[in-house]
Amino acid sequence: MEYRHTPVLLAEVTQHLRLHDGSIVVDCTLGGAGHAERAAQLIAPTGILVGIDKDDAALAAAADALPLGQQTIVLLKGDYGDLDDLLVQARIPYVDAFLFDLGVSSFQLDEAGRGFSYHRDAPLDMRMDAASSQPTAADIVNTYTEDELARVIREYGEERWASRIAAFIVAARARRPITTTGELVDLVKAAVPAAARREGGHPAKRTFQALRIEVNRELRSVERGIEAAIRWLVPGGRIAVIAYHSLEDRIVKRAFVEASQGCMCPPGLPECRCGRKPVLRIVTRRPIVPSADEVAANPRARSARLRVAEKVAEAAER
Ligand SMILES: C[S@@+](CC[C@H](N)C(=O)[O-])C[C@H]1O[C@@H](n2cnc3c(N)ncnc32)[C@H](O)[C@@H]1O
Repeated sequence: MEYRHTPVLLAEVTQHLRLHDGSIVVDCTLGGAGHAERAAQLIAPTGILVGIDKDDAALAAAADALPLGQQTIVLLKGDYGDLDDLLVQARIPYVDAFLFDLGVSSFQLDEAGRGFSYHRDAPLDMRMDAASSQPTAADIVNTYTEDELARVIREYGEERWASRIAAFIVAARARRPITTTGELVDLVKAAVPAAARREGGHPAKRTFQALRIEVNRELRSVERGIEAAIRWLVPGGRIAVIAYHSLEDRIVKRAFVEASQGCMCPPGLPECRCGRKPVLRIVTRRPIVPSADEVAANPRARSARLRVAEKVAEAAER
């Protein structure tokens, strides 16, 4: 299957990252290298591009798309939650620009065997790193308690029918294990009352999002990855993050706001005792969203929200 992924907010990302010849840029979510290919052009001939992904198929597609051999391009398999280890391993001294384009790629969604899509019947897998031994969505659906399932679906899917869906799953698996996306879709449809099924898109969308986040421990990686990226940035360097749902976007916003705060001393002290200085300046007060034209051309861009921040000082006090 051909690896296709149209990069979202490409012009906005490259403009805000201010890439130029010699920049060291880290694309933490390489995917099909849509953003990375443009970044490689902008930093040529002397810049360094580091591309990270946990999915072997993405890394293979990116290796085909990028001008390896003509430029310094380092592709690394790993989780961006382990950014410190990955950058040390690649002997990167500092970073001018980071990009995180969160979530799954169109390729992963469309690749039937991966189990990410509620539109295709496939084994219930959902691991971004399909070669890992981590639990699959089927393991979670068949082993978590009803309470745990309800919590995951409620918190990570923001699904109001989480308890009912969890109860239906537990009742169904008592008869036989749930192993395919099709079976899960049918269970969610049966659990969500008919009137509610007509609102808010596909009824299984939120449950699938929740399981994908749980399988891949996505939110923890986002927190850790952004925290580490801020440390690696040079003063004046920038970080751009594209989020596709409110849980991710909230983490990005909170991380940027926290790093952009100065003194945290209680009010009333005659002078600052904590010595805390802002480490980031938030460049995008409000997130940048795709134009109507971009959404028409690429419907998967619809929910994208881009936030950008700039490193202002060394993080000595953090
Ligand atoms: C939305 S796609 C990126 C698409 C890319 N920007 C492009 O234009 O082709 C997200 C990619 O990030 C990868 N990914 C998601 N979470 C990851 C993590 N924690 N560590 C490393 N890669 C991750 C996925 O495997 C997927 O290939």
